[in-house]
Amino acid sequence: MNEILAIESSCDETAVATLTKNGQVGLSRVISQIDMHEVFGGVLPEAAARRHLEALPYLLQGVTRPDLVCVTAGPGLLPALLTGVSVALGLSHGWGIPLLGVNHVVAHVAAASLEQDIHLPVLGLVVSGGHTSFYFIERWSEPKLIGWTYDDAAGECLDKVGRALGMKYPAGPAIDKLALDISDRIALPLPLKNESSFNFSFSGLKTAALRHKDDTSPEILAASLMDAVVAHLMDRVDRVMADYHYPLVVGGGVSASSYLRNRFLSKYGNNVLFPSPKRSTDNAEMIAAYGRLLLDEGVKPSACVSPDPNMERGWC
Ligand code: KG4
Ligand code: ZN
Repeated sequence: MNEILAIESSCDETAVATLTKNGQVGLSRVISQIDMHEVFGGVLPEAAARRHLEALPYLLQGVTRPDLVCVTAGPGLLPALLTGVSVALGLSHGWGIPLLGVNHVVAHVAAASLEQDIHLPVLGLVVSGGHTSFYFIERWSEPKLIGWTYDDAAGECLDKVGRALGMKYPAGPAIDKLALDISDRIALPLPLKNESSFNFSFSGLKTAALRHKDDTSPEILAASLMDAVVAHLMDRVDRVMADYHYPLVVGGGVSASSYLRNRFLSKYGNNVLFPSPKRSTDNAEMIAAYGRLLLDEGVKPSACVSPDPNMERGWC
């Protein structure tokens, strides 16, 4: 097997990881920019890129020449992607080794392969701050997007409502804890309940939650929102599973939620898999893992990778 170096810089985490020849994670380093972005309540692309550029040389210290460099080519914030891809291009040229650009969202699904054997086909649900996407994956090199969000992503909805309730960015982990600790709920609507697509919509839920800001305690409101987000996700999973009888892998930052995991596991049992919570949020191990799965399928890396904020393909 090839030794892989992976670089992730699509949003507000700068990360570097290696996979050794026997498939084990070698080093894995992440620097989060949350302290900077919480001041603004969201991620500023140019500021994120500047931080990535400062962090990458530091994170790459002591890394020796691998057989392949994998880098997140998209989707994500263009300035942020550009820094990671530029550094990866430099390393690949300097070391004279191939470069593979991979899709960050599909990599959230691939993260699970670091801990368990994933037998294709699978359904991949990615629930993060930037995406809520459903994939049908028969081949890692040709993931098929079968569902997406019309507006906000699930994590974005949690973060925005959390901000309005005075919570720190990102609010997901605090809201998750409230949903576990508090059992009182107010009723929030089930989005797209009359639509039979596999798509999502979270902005109506955000508006509905905020309408109760002055007549419900912030704790109950936050717990009710988490409940409603999970109910919407499970409603779509039920629809997908009625048509596709395959195991479901759930990744992305929101899937680190213990509340979500409990609900999914009690409903779908052995049919649902998760990467461990620390591999659900952004990291570079998942980028290396996806690169390895692509190589195993016979994908031939080239050296021409260009960042694509709206990337749909699995790799480039
Ligand atoms: O996958 P991720 O780290 O970055 C993106 O690719 O977007 O996801 C970040 C999102 C944020 O919206 C954050 O609030 C949410 O994941 N999040 C959580 C938890 N940990 C992170 N949401 C609920 N429960 C958690 N434990
Ligand atoms: Zn992500």
